[in-house]
Amino acid sequence: MGSELEKWVLMVTARTPTNIAVIKYWGKRDETLILPINDSISVTLDPSHLCTTTTVSVSPTFDHDRMWLNGKEISLQGGRFQSCLREIRARAQDVEDEKKGIKIKKEDWQKLHLHIASYNNFPTAAGLASSAAGLACLVFSLAKLMNLKEDNSQLSAIARQGSGSACRSLYGGFVKWDMGKEDNGSDSLAVQLADEKHWDELVIIIAVVSARQKETSSTSGMRDTVVTSALIEHRAKEVVPKRIVQMEDAIQKRDFPSFARLACTDSNQFHAVCLDTYPPIFYMNDTSHRIISCVEKWNRAEETPQVAYTFDAGPNAVMIARDRKTAALLLQRLLYNFPPQSDTDLDSYIIGDKSILQDAGIKNMKDVEALAPPPEIKDNISTQRSKGDVSYFICTRPGGGPVVLSDESLALLDPLTGLPK
Ligand code: ADE
Repeated sequence: MGSELEKWVLMVTARTPTNIAVIKYWGKRDETLILPINDSISVTLDPSHLCTTTTVSVSPTFDHDRMWLNGKEISLQGGRFQSCLREIRARAQDVEDEKKGIKIKKEDWQKLHLHIASYNNFPTAAGLASSAAGLACLVFSLAKLMNLKEDNSQLSAIARQGSGSACRSLYGGFVKWDMGKEDNGSDSLAVQLADEKHWDELVIIIAVVSARQKETSSTSGMRDTVVTSALIEHRAKEVVPKRIVQMEDAIQKRDFPSFARLACTDSNQFHAVCLDTYPPIFYMNDTSHRIISCVEKWNRAEETPQVAYTFDAGPNAVMIARDRKTAALLLQRLLYNFPPQSDTDLDSYIIGDKSILQDAGIKNMKDVEALAPPPEIKDNISTQRSKGDVSYFICTRPGGGPVVLSDESLALLDPLTGLPK
């Protein structure tokens, strides 16, 4: 390390995606190490629409570890942050930056302090797995700063200790979190099943559903399920292992009907297990249920699935359409059933990949108002077009894994002070 008088700041900025599980993780066998009771499979979402950006920095002038999330300083004292920091520091290597004349020996990392700034490009409160992208980005960026030798799969076992589903955000495309067998969690890690180019016709539309009440946290929900549900053991031991094999096969063959059936039934079983928990946990609401009916009716009318849906621990719907043409037809149906409130403009109601809106032939609010009911509900009087039940829609697709951003202008910390810009 340079002399204590030196004022250098060394930093790394990285961007990491979020992910949506299509075979769900629910239930831990070890709460501290975050070890699951079953394998899970996810699709990584395109980071150009949903991602976390994190800058990590080190300087001899920093006197304690500090973190800012979306511009506000937060405490790093939680056990989950501390586990990740401890595991990363334990694997840190020598670092040399010749241009800046900085040399850090691996043992110095135990004494040096860090400044971390992280930013989610989507509302943290929207229930879009921000902690998955956030903890994955923290681990990935620190691993680059401290020159770790571990590959992304080994890093995923560290991210897992920050937030279980974060381990799946270490890869793009289609990812399996292998539950592992070891008590120490060393084999509970993520592996990539296929990259994002393998099945690039898929289009993902997320309905951010307005939640009226605070949801049960996943941590306490899972604990209650494991302790009280009579169904969870059957799910973890009998159902999921078979679905994992079938889902891997469906992804490998790009078999959309199998993929959709597995994703929908697994989401439904996860919510059934929540309902089987005592006291019961309700994550979906009326809007979520109406979205399921809309998709199910259409899939039935087409005789083969056009769209898969899946819901995490909240009311938001994640819908996966088999291709762009189907996604445009889905968006028409969603806008027919869930039009925006009168004071919302279309540009802020549909975000992300707006070209789907063009494909759907919708240019303005007049086009939304003029949408005809989809043929599968023609004679159904029960269809309501209630405004305001969906806050907004995000159009996206499967995307790539973590990347280092070498453009210094994208750093969230000032290169001279190491404080937020
Ligand atoms: N929780 C939610 N978002 C996060 C982030 N970006 N980093 C760490 N924890 C988070």
